[in-house]
Amino acid sequence: MLADSFGRVATDLRVSLTDRCNLRCAYCMPPEGLDWLPAPQVLTGEEIVRLIRIGVTSLGIREVRFTGGEPLLRRELESIIARTAALTPRPDISLTTNGIGLARRAVALREAGLDRINVSLDTLRPEVFRKLARRDRLPDVLDALSAAAAAGLTPVKVNAVLMRGINDDEAVPLLAYCLEHGYELRFIEQMPLDAQHGWKRAEMVTAAEVFESLSAAFALSEDSERARGAAPAETFLVNGGPARVGVIASVTRPFCGSCDRVRLTADGQVRNCLFARSESDLRSLLRGGAPDEEIAERWQAAVAVKLPGHGINDPSFLQPDRPMSAIGG
Ligand code: 5AD
Ligand code: SF4
Repeated sequence: MLADSFGRVATDLRVSLTDRCNLRCAYCMPPEGLDWLPAPQVLTGEEIVRLIRIGVTSLGIREVRFTGGEPLLRRELESIIARTAALTPRPDISLTTNGIGLARRAVALREAGLDRINVSLDTLRPEVFRKLARRDRLPDVLDALSAAAAAGLTPVKVNAVLMRGINDDEAVPLLAYCLEHGYELRFIEQMPLDAQHGWKRAEMVTAAEVFESLSAAFALSEDSERARGAAPAETFLVNGGPARVGVIASVTRPFCGSCDRVRLTADGQVRNCLFARSESDLRSLLRGGAPDEEIAERWQAAVAVKLPGHGINDPSFLQPDRPMSAIGG
């Protein structure tokens, strides 16, 4: 098991497959991009699958989510998914993506064993997309969503981050669009994970604000079927259901106390939290010929020292050295 000293057990592994991305979302990256990891530092497909196997067979991992950067930039994604799906016990397999290039690959990903997908969509206005993601790719993302639904990657989940003065007026249209197409929308409070360190608490669009905007157009009621548990989304039934919307208050109502996640970066470091200030190096063990047991032990030790919370709301909070794109969402 991957247990920490506060009684939490990590069963949900988030694997970043690359730190690279083909968008430049303002809440994540500067316009010029970042210094990407040198290729030799990035784990090979073989190495990634070995770590996932150790997690699944010896450490109690039950869910594997592939993230980035943009995970679709890894050409062997389908093969990594197929090899993950072949493990016993077979974990639940999901993908967080910006959708660019997904339309062409949705069926192959589904056939490889992908169970579910989360696609980022922050705006429905092409000019806002250009400003926020700094690329003119809105149609690609909308096509990705319909292709994912057609391929049976359901329920298709949509992640939206609202930024003050950019897309904070889009809560209602985004929900209307997702309801119309049968996608499950979740708003995520912007977290201090951008490489440029531009996040300001006072500017953040809060979950309470999102709830208020949505309430002007929709009847939101408590979703008693879905207790919060380890899932961060606070979900509401829309107009009596069965459609739902999620509002993830990562900053204003942290859910660290029930966190069941552990992260693996593209260069083979275990992070016990998005906001951890240190990492544990599994790559050097992998490449130094260590047996599975030794890797499992270092991984357990990394999780054991997980802090009780992210501390974003503390005056002493320090943003992690690596941005979201290098950690995995
Ligand atoms: N705050 C909140 N969510 C973020 N994401 C990326 N950066 C941030 C941030 N600073 C989201 C993306 C994507 C997922 C990986 O995390 O929108 O949906
Ligand atoms: Fe790329 Fe995701 Fe960062 Fe946007 S949030 S720049 S899609 S890694």
